[in-house]
Amino acid sequence: MIKGVSNLIDSQKKHIVEITDYTYDGLGIGKINNFPLFVSNAVVGETVEVKITKLKKNLAFAEITEIKTIGAMRENPPCKYYDECGGCHLMHLRYEEQLRFKTNHVRETLKRIGGIDTEALVNDCIGMEFPFNYRNKLIIPFSKGLAGLYKKGTHDIVDIEECHILNKEALEIVKYLNKLPVNKLIRNVMVRNSHYRNELMVVIITWKPISLSSIGNITKEFPGIVSVINNINDQNSNVILGKRSYILIGEDSYKDYMFGNTYEINHRSFYQINTMQTELLYKKTIESVDLKDKVVVDAYCGIGTIGISCAGAAKKVYGIEVVEAAVNSARDNAEENGVNNIEFFLGKAEEVISTIITEEVDVVIVDPPRKGCQEEFLQSIIDNKIKDFVYVSCNVSTLARDINFLSNHYDVLEVTPFDMFPHTYHVECVARLKLK
Ligand SMILES: C[S@@+](CC[C@H](N)C(=O)[O-])C[C@H]1O[C@@H](n2cnc3c(N)ncnc32)[C@H](O)[C@@H]1O
Repeated sequence: MIKGVSNLIDSQKKHIVEITDYTYDGLGIGKINNFPLFVSNAVVGETVEVKITKLKKNLAFAEITEIKTIGAMRENPPCKYYDECGGCHLMHLRYEEQLRFKTNHVRETLKRIGGIDTEALVNDCIGMEFPFNYRNKLIIPFSKGLAGLYKKGTHDIVDIEECHILNKEALEIVKYLNKLPVNKLIRNVMVRNSHYRNELMVVIITWKPISLSSIGNITKEFPGIVSVINNINDQNSNVILGKRSYILIGEDSYKDYMFGNTYEINHRSFYQINTMQTELLYKKTIESVDLKDKVVVDAYCGIGTIGISCAGAAKKVYGIEVVEAAVNSARDNAEENGVNNIEFFLGKAEEVISTIITEEVDVVIVDPPRKGCQEEFLQSIIDNKIKDFVYVSCNVSTLARDINFLSNHYDVLEVTPFDMFPHTYHVECVARLKLK
């Protein structure tokens, strides 16, 4: 039972609310006497009876006890674990409503934090034709004989037999490992699969080293496996990978094609998890600026995928990345694809940029992690009057913050959201900026 009766709302009573909007993470918003309720699994347009589950000073969280009027955009989630599993957030919405939610979220955030006229500049979110089983990487925690995804808001595991966003064979490998006695030593299993080639990499993260014999005849069961790595993480922390890794089978790499090039991917490097949407995202990124004979910087470049995709059109490309294994792969990838007008720098983008940015740099493309770009990095872009700036972002809040920082010097010409992570509330964007 929820404690307390706020003077604005009685938290012990059930309430009937109309859902008028969504929070950034997909909860339905309804109001009682102007007091906002954030309702799980609710759809805009619905009238629902709810009970309060958590009361805060200025808002409350609630769960539906009865749907009085069902929303036209409600979907019957295909997943039997949807109510308990924390992996997906929007499966109760029809896919077109998920896309509308993401478009609105991007527009609203860029207007509020970025201060731009979003109606005119933000395109509709680009969705997938078949928005299922799209992930090319899974990380599954193991504990006490269970292997699955975390329950909503907890570290309890939901033991899953099937999943509608993960790769099916990758999940079969997880189930296979969980049936072996070695499962007691496993903390997490990461499986990466190439989208266009039948290749899989398995990374078994354990408290202490395991032997090859402890994983049985895994390549006979799953002939697509080209690499098995044992990573040791003996620290009590939420960081997935430990510092030491041993190769059990193959090498520390598997291959994939993307946007016309071949890539070697190692277990420590970032690689976009939805290959089909990434190809659309890269196409937009590259087509949004005229690269012909231009000098381009690809900052936060990972294994070099954006820079290598640009290199055919550009005069020269510089990549910057902080993970050494990724930079090594980027150099190999450039060579493998016959690209010789690209150079990679190991280091922090905010530190390295000033050493390579000169008057001859025409275009800077960034694809930073969720925390966005450092002010120092953005200041270099401003100081060097870079004409064209393309910002690929997986977090619209930090994109908006960084656009705001640049706003006295740069105009936003266009923003395109991409649905890289269907059924979750996450959204990717490509923003095109031009020096004023
Ligand atoms: C979202 S990923 C993008 C990678 C690549 N552009 C792609 O599309 O696959 C962000 C990358 O930035 C790297 N990174 C994080 N902080 C960095 C920093 N301060 N300087 C340079 N690279 C950084 C990460 O290691 C990661 O490879």
